[in-house]
Amino acid sequence: DRVLVLNGPNLNRLGTREPEIYGTASLEDVRAQLASRAGAVEIDLRQTNDEATLIGWLHEAVDARTPVILNPAAFTHYSYALRDAVALVTERGVPVIEVHLSNPHAREEFRHTSVVSAVATGVIAGFGTQSYQLALDTILRSS
Ligand code: DQA
Repeated sequence: DRVLVLNGPNLNRLGTREPEIYGTASLEDVRAQLASRAGAVEIDLRQTNDEATLIGWLHEAVDARTPVILNPAAFTHYSYALRDAVALVTERGVPVIEVHLSNPHAREEFRHTSVVSAVATGVIAGFGTQSYQLALDTILRSS
């Protein structure tokens, strides 16, 4: 079994980018935290700054029926193409859990809208890297 952990733009800078908002853990730290509680389940964590690549990974997920933890980063707020890609995964019964490190609702107005949430299986936001762990817990519990 495998879980895809997909991360959008600028998250390759996690740990040094606005640490007062996003914390000091890196994406590699997130991968290690998830792997330590995943048991035999493989954690396949990826990051891209490119919308097309992220969409391709979602197509891969639906074809392989692999559950997804997705931090769409800024794409959250405006990418209808990403939203449609998430919808084609969840409509096949494959979970996509939207996660955010910060609580976007407590931040700038433009972050209050997620075009992804309505087609995601669920949303976890505001718990730092623990948001990813909570998402993994729900996937492991239902698999
Ligand atoms: C984020 C929140 C987004 O608004 C922002 O663009 C990000 C990170 C988060 O994890 O808190 O890049 O998705």
